[in-house]
Amino acid sequence: MIKVENLVKTYGSIVASNNLNCHFEKGKITVILGGSGSGKSTLLRQITGLEKPDSGAVHFDGLDLTCTDKKSLYEKRKKMGMLFQGSALFNYLNIFENIAFPLREHTRIADNVIKTIVTMKLEMVGLRGTEHLMPSQLSGGMTKRVGLARAIVMDPKVIFYDEPTSGLDPISTGVIDKLIRDLNRKLNITSIVVSHDIESCFRIADKVIILFYGDIIAEGTVEEIKTSEDLKVQQFIKGEPEGPIPFTRTDKNYVEDLLLE
Ligand SMILES: Nc1ncnc2c1ncn2[C@@H]1O[C@H](COP(=O)(O)OP(=O)(O)OP(=O)(O)O)[C@@H](O)[C@H]1O
Ligand SMILES: [Mg+2]
Repeated sequence: MIKVENLVKTYGSIVASNNLNCHFEKGKITVILGGSGSGKSTLLRQITGLEKPDSGAVHFDGLDLTCTDKKSLYEKRKKMGMLFQGSALFNYLNIFENIAFPLREHTRIADNVIKTIVTMKLEMVGLRGTEHLMPSQLSGGMTKRVGLARAIVMDPKVIFYDEPTSGLDPISTGVIDKLIRDLNRKLNITSIVVSHDIESCFRIADKVIILFYGDIIAEGTVEEIKTSEDLKVQQFIKGEPEGPIPFTRTDKNYVEDLLLE
């Protein structure tokens, strides 16, 4: 479905994507894990065509997004749903209009059909009857669910989630995890989730990719990741403060030594 080839992205001396190669399988949930600054969002932005890599390719549905014209890129982007970090709802629009927004922007669907679609999507995320509420009246978990309803309103083939459970209590996290899984199975959508949340990752992932300072240091099923012998992987999934993962990028040589090991 999506294939990333030799992807390189640098910002000055920072290598955010260091020659990445990976693929995202159709109908599966892939979770991209990694510490702060490891290059997760940068990878997501390149896959969705929001940012161009310095070199390399992103194949989406038979097209290389890195060298396609604007119009084709725009068409492909219609097949991608995005749940942004913080959900990015429009504060001045009620829930109905927030969810209807992509339909009004990109299609000429009649109002009565839009109403049916929005009601259906709200039902899917368990928020039927909240159409008239404003974003400020929602809890954090509800906000994410409205963001999710908006992400699926155009019936995407792929959904990208940037930190879907950050800032949520364990129950709301469980609800979002279940929704991600249900949508993935029921709609046969390919899901790509960027997350810090190890427990949530282990609950939903068919495949896990771990990034470390721009490199992929592990890739596999949850079982394979759990039993990885890589010290960096173990430190990350156990959240141990002591170990090979330094907290900042400042000790660059140290990081490079680690990657050469
Ligand atoms: N537009 C930019 N300009 C300059 N540097 C950037 C830019 N975007 C990202 N970076 C740098 O690239 C590296 C990777 O950033 P990225 O945002 O992809 O990390 P992340 O894994 O998403 O981190 P977090 O978990 O904190 O969101 C960081 O060192 C960051 O400072
Ligand atoms: Mg990020």
